[in-house]
Amino acid sequence: MIRFILLISIAVLSSTSAFQYGRHVPQGESAVNYIYGPEGTWKSISSLNYHFNYYEQWATPNHPFNKGALIDEANGSQMFTARDANGFLLCDFNRDLEISDDAGKCSFAFHEHSGKGVNGNNRGNPFTQFWLDDNWLARYMSAAYGRPHPDGLVDQPGQFMRWKPIGGDIVNWKTYGSNHFDTLALDGLFYIKNNQVSSAVTKWNTALILSQAQYDGNNQQFQYRGIQENYHMALWKILTDMLLATTQLTAANRDLMLQHSVSLRSQILENQQKNSRNEPIGWISNIGQDTSLINTESVSCGTLALGADAKFVFEADRAPMIVYKEHNFFVRPYHAVSAVVGLSTEGFLSSGPNWNFPQGSYTAEFILRANKPTDLIAQLFIYDAVSMRNLANKSVYARDFYGADKWTSVEVRFDVTSAQNSLDFQTFWTGFASLDVAYVKIK
Ligand SMILES: *[C@@H]1O[C@H](CO)[C@@H](O)[C@H](O)[C@H]1NC(C)=O
Ligand SMILES: *[C@@H]1O[C@H](CO)[C@@H](O)[C@H](O)[C@H]1NC(C)=O
Repeated sequence: MIRFILLISIAVLSSTSAFQYGRHVPQGESAVNYIYGPEGTWKSISSLNYHFNYYEQWATPNHPFNKGALIDEANGSQMFTARDANGFLLCDFNRDLEISDDAGKCSFAFHEHSGKGVNGNNRGNPFTQFWLDDNWLARYMSAAYGRPHPDGLVDQPGQFMRWKPIGGDIVNWKTYGSNHFDTLALDGLFYIKNNQVSSAVTKWNTALILSQAQYDGNNQQFQYRGIQENYHMALWKILTDMLLATTQLTAANRDLMLQHSVSLRSQILENQQKNSRNEPIGWISNIGQDTSLINTESVSCGTLALGADAKFVFEADRAPMIVYKEHNFFVRPYHAVSAVVGLSTEGFLSSGPNWNFPQGSYTAEFILRANKPTDLIAQLFIYDAVSMRNLANKSVYARDFYGADKWTSVEVRFDVTSAQNSLDFQTFWTGFASLDVAYVKIK
């Protein structure tokens, strides 16, 4: 009887707690600024229209199926909606499959795309079609990055909505059981929340095979020739990180998944478009395809993947983190900073962001790698520039690494007790063994 009650309470707990997403700094934040900015897809929708449907199976007598007509009309001069892939309509507050009269509650949302492609260049008309499903997904990004949420999202209790497992909501959700990166990732997230971690690992392994992962020794990271779409890569990274957040992985799986989490992140950063000022912006839909466009779905998935299972993620190689180049440290193309025995001199390899953090308990996860781990390799400090003292520190020895050339997570717990603080996450290199730092994740 007691066991039975325990099981029930665990199931209830796990199905109601959301997955954690936070701010990836700076590239995730930069993409969010872009999608909310003048070239992005965030718009005032006070005059929304609904004429035609895009999906034949969701046509109604008043709103026939005519994809071409919808694309012609929703060319940027006017705003449209239509029933999404799951059959739902944005701003349908009374669920009668028409836009509600109560338009006052429906002021802002994201549309499909702005006609921008590689380097953010114009490639054609925008598609000012505002989908419920895209906005449902984008709202997780809005929440993670502390931005205004899109309006018009009406839950359909008991109805299947594709993106819900991203937020950890699996009530009435059904697994797809098919082998596409998006469905594998969503099914995997479902299984994590349904306390079936081993089934989630099976989905992850299928994605690994489909990805054709191959280690690229020159760039010291995995390449994934089997992944064609940016949002697929992002969704797989989200599943990877949410699996790493469970306590039920074998040590071998934890090691393997971390290697891919770090490489997937590096590829996601690599695939991010940069504008003419070299600022990171959004992701086009198809990796490496010139005609492809930056869209709400890809940007939402990319920014969520970069900030998955974190409150903050700080990239070691760029502001607000500082690389002390006077020590001859190296900024690598695989998105890490290196200290090299014989070339670099001991000192702070990476430090920052010098930000104020809300009071509370945190864990800083430093992602480190050494090609020949020996002796005392690094010292990690959580430094508060206001009190001028370390809130916590940790010495990192050869034995702390998963192995030679293996990305390794080293955790440092700390408490922020004073509202007046300005924190730096510092990696001090001792000079004994070459070291890479990829990023610091704050949880
Ligand atoms: C967009 O559609 C409107 C209405 O059909 C039309 O008047 C306008 O010329 C179109 N604009 C472009 C850039 O195609
Ligand atoms: C590191 O932490 C230990 C244990 O909390 C503490 O005694 C020591 O003073 C700290 N060292 C530095 C340099 O902050």
